[in-house]
Amino acid sequence: MTTTSERVQIFDTTLRDGEQSPGATMNVEEKIVIARQLEKLGVDVIEAGFAAASLGDAESVARVADAVSAPVVLSLARTKQADIEAALQSVAKAKRPGIHIFIATSELHLTRKLMMSHQEVIDAACWALSFAKKHVDHVEFSAEDASRSDPDYLVQVFGEAIQAGAVVLNVPDTTGYAVPQEFGALFADLIARPPGGDRVTWSAHCHNDLGMAVANSLAAVRNGARQIECTVNGIGERAGNTSLEEVVMAIRTRRDVFGAVDVGVRTEQIYPSSRLLSQITGIPVPINKPIVGDNAFAHEAGIHQDGVLKDKQTYEIMRPETVGLASNKLVLGKHSGRHAFAQRLQELGVDFGGVDMNAAFTRFKALADRKKHVYDEDLVALVAETGVRTADRYELLDLSVTSSSTDAPQARVHMRVDGATREESATGDGMVDACFKAISRIVGLHPSLERYQVSAITADTDAQGEASCSVKDDQFTVSGQGVHTDIIMASALAYVNALNKLDYRHRHHQRAQATVGP
Ligand code: KIV
Ligand code: ZN
Repeated sequence: MTTTSERVQIFDTTLRDGEQSPGATMNVEEKIVIARQLEKLGVDVIEAGFAAASLGDAESVARVADAVSAPVVLSLARTKQADIEAALQSVAKAKRPGIHIFIATSELHLTRKLMMSHQEVIDAACWALSFAKKHVDHVEFSAEDASRSDPDYLVQVFGEAIQAGAVVLNVPDTTGYAVPQEFGALFADLIARPPGGDRVTWSAHCHNDLGMAVANSLAAVRNGARQIECTVNGIGERAGNTSLEEVVMAIRTRRDVFGAVDVGVRTEQIYPSSRLLSQITGIPVPINKPIVGDNAFAHEAGIHQDGVLKDKQTYEIMRPETVGLASNKLVLGKHSGRHAFAQRLQELGVDFGGVDMNAAFTRFKALADRKKHVYDEDLVALVAETGVRTADRYELLDLSVTSSSTDAPQARVHMRVDGATREESATGDGMVDACFKAISRIVGLHPSLERYQVSAITADTDAQGEASCSVKDDQFTVSGQGVHTDIIMASALAYVNALNKLDYRHRHHQRAQATVGP
């Protein structure tokens, strides 16, 4: 290894690059809930958004900056004055403010996208960094598409960026094109060559188009990178970004390879963070996803089960508890009181800051009436829902569905829309279809359904169903999620959640996609 510092900073970009996943749009309240959880998880830096993209983004960054204290909070910005001013203003209230300025450096981007010469890019970067540096100390610079840029030019750009005041230099593999050996060697070269390269923090920002984002980030660390940019569940543009949980657990689990290099993450907050994000975005975690997927710690083959019963280490390289995976144990029932409920949530590491405890307890009681055993997973899902469903315009009040082998299924739906109660009925191809049609009639939104799935949160026959769906209109794609012991109700909740997000997106979140966006 080529560097003296052993601490790898975890830079979380779930709220910026992660939100660029199709359907991952979050409203301001949801972003605050996520940011608080990220603080609890112990990330070092939160990239809260791209302030210049829209007023909604600027407000989100500002609210996140106000909501957390330990991590650096920064906003992304291009090298334009208006972007930098918007970014600086949005982080003004942060205890530890920062800014992240980027410009592309590959031949392709210079000639086909920016229409700028090599020198013009250097001038733009230096001007932007010096301007930002007058207002804030934590200035990060990214050379977009670095992995496809000429290394000699990169050395020149990064050298100038150091002179202009950047304290973190980020090397993005923007298109997920790099392979580990090559990406690691690039870091070794970049850290050694520009004057002052040993005084700054080098950062890896990888995308997963070839499934190598985690491997590339780890290769960068082996060659001196001391910051990894990543997202919870690996969400992000296209195939996503480096997955936070995978990269963190690789460093923790393979101390023999990484030596004294370590991260400051509280790993037992990994699973709650993953669940919360999935709950909020409506994007399910694939069952075979390392660390946080349902099967990550499940042993199916008889030989494996036998081995694990004799000694867990035969087939387990990590303990589920280390990543905060509840052992599915029965915790509460309908006779449990408020105190036991709050205590168990505390043990599960739930952040009370963003949760309306009265509402959460009422929901718990309603759940315990419907479901004999309330498991840890149920509690996490319930609290996540309570914490993020506050600013909705559309609320599902009641639902009844009839179905027989001869007649088309019919749904009758009661909703509250902007405070007024409304009712509609519809028939459909199935019970879910009938419900969705009735809901759409009430709300007046008729997007196409792109994805719909239901799974059980725990194993009993009275388990809660977790429904998620993704809907699309001519402008936006959003996802929704709902949890209930009745899967039709869970589906209706997911659909209403998606429609709330679609409505929010239309009202507040009009990104100027054509002109901005890395
Ligand atoms: O992938 C990328 O290049 C980015 C930069 C803005 C850091 O997201
Ligand atoms: Zn990116």
